[in-house]
Amino acid sequence: MVQDRSDYRVGSLEREGLDPDPLAQFRRWFDEAKAFVGEGGLRLVEPEAMALASVDGSGQPHVRMVLLREIRPEGLVFFTNYESDKGVQLLAQPRAALCFHWDRMERQVRVEGSVSPLTPEESDAYFLARPRKSRIASASSPQSRVVEDRRALQRIFEEWEARFEDGAEVPRPDHWGGFIVAPTLFEFWQGRRHRLHDRFRYSQAESGGTDWRIERLAP
Ligand SMILES: Cc1cc2nc3c(=O)[nH]c(=O)nc-3n(C[C@H](O)[C@H](O)[C@H](O)COP(=O)(O)O)c2cc1C
Repeated sequence: MVQDRSDYRVGSLEREGLDPDPLAQFRRWFDEAKAFVGEGGLRLVEPEAMALASVDGSGQPHVRMVLLREIRPEGLVFFTNYESDKGVQLLAQPRAALCFHWDRMERQVRVEGSVSPLTPEESDAYFLARPRKSRIASASSPQSRVVEDRRALQRIFEEWEARFEDGAEVPRPDHWGGFIVAPTLFEFWQGRRHRLHDRFRYSQAESGGTDWRIERLAP
């Protein structure tokens, strides 16, 4: 049997301590996750890693990890291949769910919302700031397609390298760029003793706008 964790005791979350703006609350927790040093000096490995769920046309959900690259007032930004499975799904069904798990802090954050691609200029700005090799790798990879073997992948990479010899600028291909998830729901979860965890959900009021309803949920 898988060993259960004995108990959760790192922190707590109270209604009075919550920021009325869920994005501000998220920023606070994200900053704490980046700065966190736990027992034995251990830090969180990749606090920006988040599970991203999308659905295909049949309603089948798909989930994978991506990296949070920017927090904007309008939402959370990540980058990917628009022709990948997730890219195709998100362009056709522009809704997503995200989940962060900051294990040593015993925290989880869930986000749901609508998705839209960044403008080409915004994607260019991020792409051109990346190291040359990672630009070539992400531009050349036919993400989510079947490849014969690792050598085939290597060959595609080398063809792209050869195309941009002598330090030529590697432009962003149209099929690669950012998405922004504009949240309509946040949930903050803090592990507590005896499994009596703290959960708070922020949902956007019917009227939309900047008003959020905050409710405690049973764990
Ligand atoms: C920690 C971690 C971070 C990742 N970050 C990204 C990312 O930011 N963008 C991306 O396209 N894929 C990222 N990946 C790879 C994806 O999980 C996934 O394998 C890939 O995007 C293809 O997904 P799809 O076939 O569902 O479209 C990451 C994987 C891991 C484990």
